Amino acid sequence: MRSIFITGGASGIGLAAARRFAREGWTIGIGDIDETGMRRAASELSAYAAPLDVRDRGRWGPALDGFVAQIGRLDVLLNNAGIARYGMFEEVSPAEADLQVDINVKGVINGAYAALPHLKATAGSRLINVASCAGLFGSPGLAVYSATKFAVRGLSEALDVEFARHGIGVACVMPWFVETPILDSGSAGTNRTIRDATAGQPVYSVDEAAEVIWQAAHGRERDYIVGKAGRQVRFASKWMPERFRRRLKAAVMG
Ligand code: NAI
Repeated sequence: MRSIFITGGASGIGLAAARRFAREGWTIGIGDIDETGMRRAASELSAYAAPLDVRDRGRWGPALDGFVAQIGRLDVLLNNAGIARYGMFEEVSPAEADLQVDINVKGVINGAYAALPHLKATAGSRLINVASCAGLFGSPGLAVYSATKFAVRGLSEALDVEFARHGIGVACVMPWFVETPILDSGSAGTNRTIRDATAGQPVYSVDEAAEVIWQAAHGRERDYIVGKAGRQVRFASKWMPERFRRRLKAAVMG
């Protein structure tokens, strides 16, 4: 039986992925800071649950070791836990900026370190990191968040090459807006939330995101985008960078 350990599996995209893989008969492990939500998800899916703050390097080992001890293998680590703070740069406090870096970047790095021995020991294993389309272009209103997702993309690109010698595949999943509680994130300096930025934009379902993660677990590519809008933005930012930049500036100037 194949197994996947999902950080942030108590909610949103992580929970939808947990359900998707459980339906296919995988053994699920969930690590989340939200213990109530995690226990609820674990009881629904007969999953292993480990209270985990991804920032806490010391907790990662026991969380993964306990899961792997049960089934003897780790096919996929889904580094999914993440947070966002929305607002112009000066509206997001330095403490809120730190928190995003600590969870979104250091949390993912901690996960890669902790999972490596288990992934090495499992033939055909994969490390899947959830970045964002905000990691494809510098996203106004989400500057620091966007920077953390560029970091996750960079890490994934490098590890994809490095881990090939261990037989481990690495994928980076980049969702466009997906309907989850993260859309209600704001910051200390503004009443606006990410949801305001979704006006006029498509918002995809968690099931669509879970389907892409399923493909990332089985495919051989490195980058997986959730949503047609994300693919269009990747194209525009890559091939029409000046036009794309002017459009973003015009939108921010109102
Ligand atoms: P969500 O808020 O529904 O779920 C995030 C989960 O991470 C929650 O269960 C939360 O308790 C957990 N978490 C937060 N901090 C943690 C920590 N320190 N340690 C362990 N767990 C922690 O949000 P969503 O949307 O499901 O986010 C999942 C990932 O998808 C994140 O990395 C996010 O940046 C990314 N993403 C989401 C998009 C969206 O529009 N929903 C778009 C692009 C990327």
